[in-house]
Parts: sequence; C-alpha cells; structure tokens
Amino acid sequence: MVRKIFGIFGSMVSLCFVLTLSSPAQDQWSWPEKPENLQVLPKDWPGSRLRAPMRGFASALGVDCSYCHVGEKGKPLSTYDFASDANPNKNRAREMIRMLGSINDHLEKIEPSGEKRVNLWCHTCHRGRPRPMTIREELVEVYKMKGLQAALTHYADLKKNYYGRGAYDFGESALNGFGHELLRSEDVEGAIKVFKMNSESFPKSGNVWDSLAEGYFKAGDMKMAEKWYRKSLELDPKNQNANDMLKKIKERK
Ligand code: HEC
Ligand code: HEC
Repeated sequence: MVRKIFGIFGSMVSLCFVLTLSSPAQDQWSWPEKPENLQVLPKDWPGSRLRAPMRGFASALGVDCSYCHVGEKGKPLSTYDFASDANPNKNRAREMIRMLGSINDHLEKIEPSGEKRVNLWCHTCHRGRPRPMTIREELVEVYKMKGLQAALTHYADLKKNYYGRGAYDFGESALNGFGHELLRSEDVEGAIKVFKMNSESFPKSGNVWDSLAEGYFKAGDMKMAEKWYRKSLELDPKNQNANDMLKKIKERK
C-alpha cells in the first residue's frame, strides 16, 4: 500500500535540483550511507534516496529540517540527530506518509475526470504551511485563545508572509467568514471592526458591505445598517437580502 507512493517520491528527485537547501547546510554533512531508523520508507534505501522526499517534505510544509528532526534551526546539519525520534513532528510525519498511502488507495477507486488521476502529495493539503488551515479557521483559533487584537495582528503577519504564495486565500471570503464567526459568538463590535477592514480591501464587493450592514443591524445601529445596505445594493442591484433588510429597517422606523 505505502509502497505505491514511493514512485511519487522518486519523481521528486528532479524537483530537488531546483530546490536549494539554505546556506547553513553547506557544512561537511552528507546523507548517511545507511539510515538507522527507517520505519515507513523502505529500510534498504541508502541515505541519498532520502534527499528528494526530505526536501519535498520541507518545501510542502514551508519548514526546514529542524521542524521534524532534533537540531537547531540555522545550525550546521552535522550537529543534527536525524535518526532520533525525540521530535514529535517526526512521528506525525510518519503517520502522514501512511495516510497518504491509504488515501491514494481510495483514490484508485474513482474514475478520474481528467486524463489521469491527480497525485495526492503533502503539498496538496499543506501548501507551504505545517498546519493546513484556512485563514478563517486560524483566526478563530487565535481569537479564542488570545482575543481580537491578537487575531488581527496574526492576519497582518499572514498577509505579509504568505500573500501571493498559494498557502492561503486572501480573497474577500476570509475576513468575511471570520466576521460572521464573531457575530455567531456575539462579538458584534469585533465583527464590525473586521467587516470594516474587509470593506477597505474590497470596496467594490456588494457582499462585503452587506456584511458590514448586518453587523450594524445586529448592534442596533439602524442608521449605519441602512447606509451600508444601500451601498451594497448600489454595487449589486440583485442583492435580495439587502432589499429585504431595508424593508425591515423601514418597518421598524
Ligand atoms: C515533515 C517532517 C520532516 C522534515 C521537514 C524532514 N524530515 Fe527527515 N525524516 C522524516 C521522517 C518521518 C523520517 C523517518 C522516515 C521513516 O521512518 O521511514 C526522516 C528520516 C530522515 C533521515 C534518516 C535518519 C536515519 O538514520 O534513520 C535523514 C538523514 C533525514 N530525515 C534528513 C532530513 C533532512 C536533511 C531534512 C531537511 C532537508 C529533513 N530530513 C526534513 C521527516 C522529516
Ligand atoms: C489529506 C491532507 C493531508 C496530507 C496529504 C498531508 N497532511 Fe500533514 N496534516 C494534515 C492535517 C489536517 C494536519 C493537522 C493535524 C492536526 O494537528 O490537527 C497535518 C499535520 C501534519 C504535521 C504536524 C504539524 C504540526 O505543526 O502539528 C506534519 C509534520 C505533517 N502533517 C506532515 C505531512 C507530510 C510529511 C505529508 C506528506 C507525506 C503530509 N503531512 C500530508 C493534512 C495532510
């Protein structure tokens, strides 16, 4: 089962010539002749065959070797203990390799709609991040642990570090979804702040103004709600929700 995916690892070899290892690696370290502790990959693989999958793992997760191995980031690789299992991410990665094998078995059961089956690989899920989450999921996690300001700082960091790299979708739905999560958890003030930010980034989206209006509506500020529902309708005359809400606001007056 797991054997099948080794073909994929093999095909990564060509890729590894393109990926250059960061400079601290330019010490005397070389791939071990005989790896000591392979539990998932074939035990008889010489160390040199690990080069492609290891670099592939690192680039798929956007990390360096120290993320899964015992060693300090930036230190020469000769100081690392690659055979050790003390870093819990190594066993997590082993389980991922096994999972990849079983998902690929499942994928063989479907008739692909394209010319051939899409290869499932670490980056299919990870896209350059160790924990593959959407912006919305990540912001909700930070919000629950540390509050709104920390979540917004986290958003700014993500945007700075990942924008345009395919790891996250920075489209309007990211902050819009986060704002709606805040509405659901009764943080109306936080939601309004988030929707406002989003309207600054996507001022031409009717949907974004509709959400801001909804925030004000929930806050009981009918004047602002009306204003932004009107703006949303201007941009998107087919927005039935905005029409309905404007009627509702009129009835309340
Ligand atoms: C996402 C996690 C991950 C990353 C990143 C990673 N590795 Fe590994 N590495 C593993 C796992 C898992 C194994 C063990 C595989 C097995 O049990 O079959 C392993 C095994 C090894 C081994 C064999 C050790 C032995 O003697 O048994 C070497 C050498 C190695 N990795 C080098 C590297 C180098 C160099 C890098 C950075 C370019 C790197 N790895 C990045 C997960 C990772
Ligand atoms: C089907 C999607 C998927 C694929 C394919 C996948 N992963 Fe993962 N991986 C996840 C998810 C989801 C998590 C987060 C699990 C959690 O912590 O709840 C994760 C977590 C991890 C972690 C732990 C990261 C952390 O900081 O907690 C490592 C290491 C990892 N994956 C390595 C790999 C490697 C190496 C591959 C390829 C062999 C791979 N993954 C393939 C979905 C995937």
